[in-house]
Amino acid sequence: MAILVTGGAGFIGSNFILEWLKHSDEPVINLDVLTYAGNLENLTSLAGDARHIFVKGNIGDLDLVSDLLAGHQPRALLNFAAESHVDRSIHGPEDFVQANIVGTFRLLEAARDYRGGQAQDAASNFCFLHVSTDEVYGSLAEGAPAFTESSRYEPNSPYSASKAASDHLVRAYHHTYGLPVLTTNCSNNYGPCQFPEKLIPLCIHNALAGKPLPVYGDGLQIRDWLYVKDHCSAIRCVLEKGKPGDMYNIGGWNEKTNLEVVRTLCLILDQCKPRSDGKSYQEQIVFVQDRPGHDRRYAIDAGKIERQLGWKPAETFETGIRKTVQWYLDNQTWVKNVTSGAYRNWVDRQYGG
Ligand code: NAD
Ligand code: DAU
Repeated sequence: MAILVTGGAGFIGSNFILEWLKHSDEPVINLDVLTYAGNLENLTSLAGDARHIFVKGNIGDLDLVSDLLAGHQPRALLNFAAESHVDRSIHGPEDFVQANIVGTFRLLEAARDYRGGQAQDAASNFCFLHVSTDEVYGSLAEGAPAFTESSRYEPNSPYSASKAASDHLVRAYHHTYGLPVLTTNCSNNYGPCQFPEKLIPLCIHNALAGKPLPVYGDGLQIRDWLYVKDHCSAIRCVLEKGKPGDMYNIGGWNEKTNLEVVRTLCLILDQCKPRSDGKSYQEQIVFVQDRPGHDRRYAIDAGKIERQLGWKPAETFETGIRKTVQWYLDNQTWVKNVTSGAYRNWVDRQYGG
């Protein structure tokens, strides 16, 4: 038996593979095209481990995906591969349409063909697990109940629209062709190996570099935070116990304003790595122009996965954020290697130098 993971060199995919191989000896085929966000350094601890087979390639390459399915006969395909950064989707939506919509469509086609050609037992076990986001539900008003699996899809950014489209394709392949699918919709992740374009690693990196900590608008937008390894355990749980055709929301009941998150990071850094002038890192907080169409609030009701599948997160926000800051302090070479020329071009473009 084996599983095929796409996007396994990215933030969540690489954490998932590391966690998977801690819990199981079942091999992982990792298909990743290595965009700017894909980084094999996340997986160096698996060097020489025969359970991890890396294949550089695009999920949109139907022949390649079909060959991988036929050659390795995996019992599941887990689709993490995507363009994932909202700000980049605002500057250039085309890549998001290609990777997230066309890419998922091709994976579904390959999976449909594979399942049709498998022996009956293997075919009935096969499952296509699609990793999606809470952003497909749009923006919540203050005090409104958290998103459930029956909340309406109301995506607002090119990123969330592309993820919503991919979720609809996954649903349609179940309904029309009987493909056994599972869809997970998770809230904001944080933890080791997150590319420093996203709020938490960006602020840790900028704080240590003595640069501004850019808070969009009034900083009172709310996100619901989950430690990445808890997302990984939830995906394992859905894969093992989920009901084909169902969606599962994943979250940690951790709603925070962006300003609260950035201030928390500053306080932890003040303790772990005080500034040489004795001042707080909070002095570096700067309010900058808001993100166009910025969703005000996300909140996930994780009741279904908790009640039906018995999943619970292991970390609170307080424990997870401390681990995360410590990981970045301990892995400055990783940060240095990813904040290359291409990264600096992005920062100049997004924050105007
Ligand atoms: P990421 O940007 O860190 O990693 C994405 C990975 O996919 C990279 O390794 C990249 O090289 C690869 N990739 C992109 N396009 C590809 C293609 N066409 N073919 C093959 N590989 C390709 O993203 P992430 O934060 O790890 O997110 C992973 C998944 O989880 C995404 O589907 C995202 O929508 C979803 N998600 C993310 C979060 C979050 O907070 N980061 C929360 C909920 C859901
Ligand atoms: O909700 C799940 C989603 O979370 C995932 O689907 C996405 O892939 C992931 O990128 C993330 O999207 P967000 O847009 O919420 O994450 P980001 O880290 O970019 O921003 C978090 C919040 O912080 C958001 O309200 C925008 C704000 N922000 C972000 C950056 C990069 C700032 O205020 N300043 C910044 O410099």
